[in-house]
Amino acid sequence: LLLPVIMAGGSGTRLWPLSRELFPKQFLALDGQQSMLQATIARLDGLTGTQPLVICNEAHRFLVAEQLRQVAALARNILLEPAGRNTAPAIALAALHATAAGADPLLLVLAADHVIQDTPAFQAAVRTALPLAEAGSLVTFGIVARQPETGYGYIKRGAAVAAGAWAVERFVEKPAFEVAQAYVASGDYDWNSGMFLFKASRYLQELERHRPDILAACRAAMAQPQPDLDFVRVDAAAFRACPDESIDYAVMEPTDAAVVVPMDAGWSDVGAFAALWEVLPRDDDGNVHRGDVLAHDSHNNLVFAENALVATVGLNDHVVVQTKDAVMVAPRERASEVKQIVAQLKASG
Ligand code: GDD
Ligand code: MG
Repeated sequence: LLLPVIMAGGSGTRLWPLSRELFPKQFLALDGQQSMLQATIARLDGLTGTQPLVICNEAHRFLVAEQLRQVAALARNILLEPAGRNTAPAIALAALHATAAGADPLLLVLAADHVIQDTPAFQAAVRTALPLAEAGSLVTFGIVARQPETGYGYIKRGAAVAAGAWAVERFVEKPAFEVAQAYVASGDYDWNSGMFLFKASRYLQELERHRPDILAACRAAMAQPQPDLDFVRVDAAAFRACPDESIDYAVMEPTDAAVVVPMDAGWSDVGAFAALWEVLPRDDDGNVHRGDVLAHDSHNNLVFAENALVATVGLNDHVVVQTKDAVMVAPRERASEVKQIVAQLKASG
């Protein structure tokens, strides 16, 4: 049994100050047709007949339920988090939910906010990974590393384990810029796509081994799951007490059971402004404007105006984001460094 688990609860710190409330990108239609969440589900056509399990913040529950109904996916499969605790706990809840009745499905863990242009190539990579995950490996899908992007995990390929699959010799989540530069130059590293395939029980075992505190908190939260209309709720107090950590740091870095299957499928995580500018429709001057924006002799900018008029003159290749309590301006190619600002904000409380 292949159960897709779609994570739709991130907060996107590289897109600050666009908040999830203002711009929940996984629920928006970048191509004007389906939302990224709906596209993620459509991409599974022909791969599995199992309805996906979606895990998201309870604040977005009706948005998610409505979007699932539009694509005829069973809305009952929505797990609600009372607060974001990052992906290691989210996937643990999904794995506990999936194994509650004694089953042990393969979990195909997907992000709701990735663009993948070549669906057949995506499905082929998943099919390559199936027997490896069945045999107990934690499979990640690797993307050719093109530039020293510090927002990604880096995977060093080890020995070949099957056609199109390699043992992971080393997994490094979000390295420093100089380190990422060296990795890209070496040609030995792939980016981690952030999609995974493993048996639910294997994930729980590895989490138990490397982060028993996270597993214990998630078990407590799932002790008495409460079905509520389309949704499954967990114990809020128990889940709030769970440490905040990503699967990458909690499991993929320390585990010795990881395998990488490269995927060449036109993947983009649209996690930073530069990628957003690339995938959104642009006007004749190469600009993407949202809200009240006026431009004179300005090209290739991404400008979001929430509640003020924003005007640009002679501005090229920049990102400008105006919200009611913050304004951010950056060269497009450096805009992902706003996460440094977010870190400063967090540090100063
Ligand atoms: N349900 C739920 N709850 N989903 C979450 C949560 C949460 O608390 N936190 C994040 N997500 C979702 C996001 O919406 C996104 O779809 C996915 O999980 C990944 O989270 P991100 O926060 O976007 O992670 P990242 O981009 O910094 O890093 C991950 O993805 C990179 C590729 O895009 C890592 O796996 C990296 O190693 C990888 O390179
Ligand atoms: Mg991301």
